[in-house]
Amino acid sequence: MRLDKLLANMGYGTRKEVKKLLKTGVVRVDEEITKDPKQHVDPEGNHVTVHEETVEYREFIYLMMNKPGGVISATEDEDETVIDLLIPEDQVFEPFPVGRLDKDTEGLLLITNDGKLAHHLTSPKHHVPKTYYARISGHVTEEDVQAFQKGVTLEDGYVTKPGELTILVADDQSEIELTIHEGKFHQVKRMFEAVDKKVIYLQRIQMGDIHLDRDLEPGEYRELTEDEVNILKK
Ligand code: URA
Repeated sequence: MRLDKLLANMGYGTRKEVKKLLKTGVVRVDEEITKDPKQHVDPEGNHVTVHEETVEYREFIYLMMNKPGGVISATEDEDETVIDLLIPEDQVFEPFPVGRLDKDTEGLLLITNDGKLAHHLTSPKHHVPKTYYARISGHVTEEDVQAFQKGVTLEDGYVTKPGELTILVADDQSEIELTIHEGKFHQVKRMFEAVDKKVIYLQRIQMGDIHLDRDLEPGEYRELTEDEVNILKK
């Protein structure tokens, strides 16, 4: 990989800025000062330093965000996106959200630039389960649990795969957890519409074996641990 690309990827500025930085003689490859942006380096084998600090190269970034309501889970939009919430040092990796949450949905959103992993997690073939907490306008009943277990017919005729509904509070306003194994557009909201109820608050709390970190306030994020990344890749 070219040295300027490596440094730009690691957040040392644009290619142009990196070229200027190189000219100042503060970059060394295996102890030798180098000013050549085109120099080829092996991120694994060569020791690159800037101002005598080692540049730890990595290709991929894996983030867990507690998505707040009111932002779009996309990379670009007229409105604020989840990527806009990342610090510039993380944005240089050009990460993207893994799947989508509605603008008003909160909770667990994975953000990465690892296309292979994102594909694995979102591909209908793999049925990665996703669990949501929701507040529902209406009294959620055991019949709803049975209906979701069988699969409900959405307004467009699609019959959902079985979903596991757990009632936490059953009242005029109910609280539930629902695990689904597919990800149709507005799926949770439409499943409740199919049983004449309305989702008034929706939060994703789990994806595969990864749980939303309760220490993250809405809008905050952190890197996944190595263990979490390995769990997702399984
Ligand atoms: N189901 C929905 O209805 N909305 C989401 O954001 C996620 C699942």
